[in-house]
Amino acid sequence: MQRILVTGGSGYIGSHICVELLTSGFQAVVVDNLSNSNREAIRRVETIAEQSVDFIQGDILDESLLRRVLEDYNIDAVVHLAGLKAVGESVSHPLRYYDNNVAGSRSLLQAMDAVGLKKIVFSSSATVYGNPSINPVAESAALNPTNPYGRSKLFVEEMLADLASSDDDWHVAVLRYFNPVGAHHSGLIGEDPLDTPNNLMPYVSKVAAGKLERLSVFGDDYSTRDGTGVRDYIHVVDLAKGHLAALNSLSTGTGVDVYNLGTGTGYSVLEVIREFVEAAGHDIPYGVVARRPGDIAECYADPGKAERELGWRAQLGLAAMCEDAWRWQRNNPEGFQ
Ligand code: NAD
Ligand code: UFG
Repeated sequence: MQRILVTGGSGYIGSHICVELLTSGFQAVVVDNLSNSNREAIRRVETIAEQSVDFIQGDILDESLLRRVLEDYNIDAVVHLAGLKAVGESVSHPLRYYDNNVAGSRSLLQAMDAVGLKKIVFSSSATVYGNPSINPVAESAALNPTNPYGRSKLFVEEMLADLASSDDDWHVAVLRYFNPVGAHHSGLIGEDPLDTPNNLMPYVSKVAAGKLERLSVFGDDYSTRDGTGVRDYIHVVDLAKGHLAALNSLSTGTGVDVYNLGTGTGYSVLEVIREFVEAAGHDIPYGVVARRPGDIAECYADPGKAERELGWRAQLGLAAMCEDAWRWQRNNPEGFQ
């Protein structure tokens, strides 16, 4: 049985990846410092999968801890998600991002190199494209991140590329996620933001649940079909399955392979609200306000490369994303607390 180290495995996306790993015959070992997650998420993963996870509370900046984990658990490959992800915070505290995301990744790669484990799947983001000039966005599009968070992702991508060109034994899959949303169908795990959410879907969920008063729609004067921003929302379970496909491809891949993980379909803010109203069965108060600084009009993926090379394609549509997000919200009004 293959043993996979999942850094950041108790977080939103990591917990869903752990479920898919366990239910597909892998063993999951998680290292997470719980800076943005709850230990309860791992217990819920174990409930869903009816299998246990080896959980180690620790920081990826702790290289000697990582070395010990890689050796003690005889790890076969790493899925690397640990990092900070708030764009606004990255602008006000850039060093936190270069430390956690870039130095943290360097520490992990150093530990892997030291024990001779050279297979990794890395969580990157569509944010590395910045404001794409053409949609759908292919992996070959220009990379132009516009904030420290996005640059931290790009730097790690480049670090991985340098490593792979220095040593043929490295097998790397870089996954550029579009907009992960939704929750596991069981309603047991989902996104649990510590503060007021910045992202659309968790904000809509909280308004629908009456925990926030009303949603602000950031601008309706973009050159999109209804004037509101268009994004490629992808169900987190589809996203998690993309990691299994990437893991399975690692031994046959060539050095570094980069894949967009998106559905290929963009939805506007108003379309998301309408679908969420359907899922929740009642109205969601909202009003249009000014554009959010730094936002772009439109961004959706060309996911063709992942389909051709990994045999992976997103299966779940916007209705399932909203229904599952709503089930998670309704069943867990206080998140994991
Ligand atoms: P999350 O915050 O829920 O998960 C990240 C996890 O990493 C958390 O559990 C946190 O405690 C842990 N962590 C952070 N710094 C750490 C450190 N130094 N050592 C050990 N653990 C640490 O976020 P998520 O949404 O699950 O995102 C997972 C990954 O996917 C991140 O790398 C993120 O940048 C990337 N990503 C997320 C999105 C998104 O919209 N959610 C989009 C694109 C890419
Ligand atoms: N939006 C609102 N109101 C809100 C929140 C968002 O109208 O309260 C709008 C935004 O203006 C945008 C759309 O909803 O048009 C989606 O916004 P999100 O904040 O959910 O997502 P973004 O595409 O702006 O950013 C997300 C992550 C980034 C990541 C990027 C690309 O937050 O970290 O996707 O993967 F880099």
